[in-house]
Amino acid sequence: MTHIKYIDGILHVEEVDIPSIAREVGTPFYLFSASQIEDNFLAVKNSVASFGGHVFYAMKANSNQAILKLLFELGAGFDVVSGGEYQRAKAVGCPGDRIVFSGVGKTKDEMELALTKGIRQFNVESFSELHLLNTVAGKLGLIAPIAVRMNPDVDAETHEKISTGKAQNKFGVPITRVEEFFQVASGLSNVNLLGLDIHIGSQITSLRPYEKAFGKVASLIREKNLQISRLDLGGGLGVTYHPIHDNPPKVGDYSQLVRNIFGDMNLEIEIEPGRFIVADSGILVAKVLYRKKGENRDFLVIDAAMNDLIRPAMYSSYHEIKPIRESIDKGNKKFDVVGPICESSDTFAENRNLPEFEPDDLMAFMTAGAYSTVMVSEYNTRPAVAEILVKGDKWACIKKSPTISDMINREIIPSWL
Ligand code: LLP
Repeated sequence: MTHIKYIDGILHVEEVDIPSIAREVGTPFYLFSASQIEDNFLAVKNSVASFGGHVFYAMKANSNQAILKLLFELGAGFDVVSGGEYQRAKAVGCPGDRIVFSGVGKTKDEMELALTKGIRQFNVESFSELHLLNTVAGKLGLIAPIAVRMNPDVDAETHEKISTGKAQNKFGVPITRVEEFFQVASGLSNVNLLGLDIHIGSQITSLRPYEKAFGKVASLIREKNLQISRLDLGGGLGVTYHPIHDNPPKVGDYSQLVRNIFGDMNLEIEIEPGRFIVADSGILVAKVLYRKKGENRDFLVIDAAMNDLIRPAMYSSYHEIKPIRESIDKGNKKFDVVGPICESSDTFAENRNLPEFEPDDLMAFMTAGAYSTVMVSEYNTRPAVAEILVKGDKWACIKKSPTISDMINREIIPSWL
């Protein structure tokens, strides 16, 4: 069930109508449904419970403290990829044994932080990282729990920029060298190699790549007789951005696949979904500033820009656009929807069939809860927009927008200038 829908012709998030929030906070802003996040998380949690799986939410998708707190209370662990994300997990009270540390470029300081404050496992991506981690743990008199991330050389059939499991990608240890990794690790006294890890990409909309990659993992474990107790299957579950073109797998089918492949292996299975948990819980609300006739196309210039939502500019990604007032003339018009930033990549939609928006009309960019707020920039000195969370008929600001003076005052003019 979606928690973002029209009630009496006005788009609502749960029981709250969007125009009333817009009047108080001003556009553009992000708006999230707490109930949607809960539903998504519980759907995954309950589904993977069928094979005893644990969910480590990949907070890179959306790391707002309010959202992390909500998920933590529901039983989530966290997948982190920086010392900063690790500290975000800690700040909502998450114990170290519910945190998995991923990432291809962990620093010595990050290793020290996680080792001293507690960590369930580091997902190690190279031999050099293995040696550094062993040294850092040795100096602290600790043993680092680890899994090795393997690169299976499988195409996730997704956008090339978010594909991570092909041999040419920077991620993981090549599948051909995993056995050697186990041999090297067994000779090191300050690491404890507990498992294997894999993450082949994001926005995966078919089970096929998972089937291939997981099949390779299972064969490797059997053929090389790898002694492991844990298996981290990464994230990647796709969502529906385009109501017609995207048809991602159902969570239940994903779980069935995992059971089929690993069911008889007696492994503790971990997954790291990010997008699936938060994507459809969030929208970006913007206002039309101008309707503008170009030589051969019509533009809607809005008050949100690529700094607020970079995905269309960066990955040519599609976000459905809905009017806040459903009654807006349906028309049959094609528009380019663009922001105020001074470059042509500041385009949200090209030649899109949309209703007859007029200046001051509000619109929502749908499925904007993942990889949106976390990728905000302040390009063109545009303050990062406010984030609002709704639950039932309640709403609260969960991130304030900085004032322009806040932004200017962070910068320092040296005394010698
Ligand atoms: N685990 C690891 C090791 C990852 O690198 C990622 C995502 C995830 C889990 C979570 O994947 P998810 O379940 O969210 O697909 N900015 C891009 C997406 C980048 C994904 C990076 N890694 C976008 O806007 O589409």
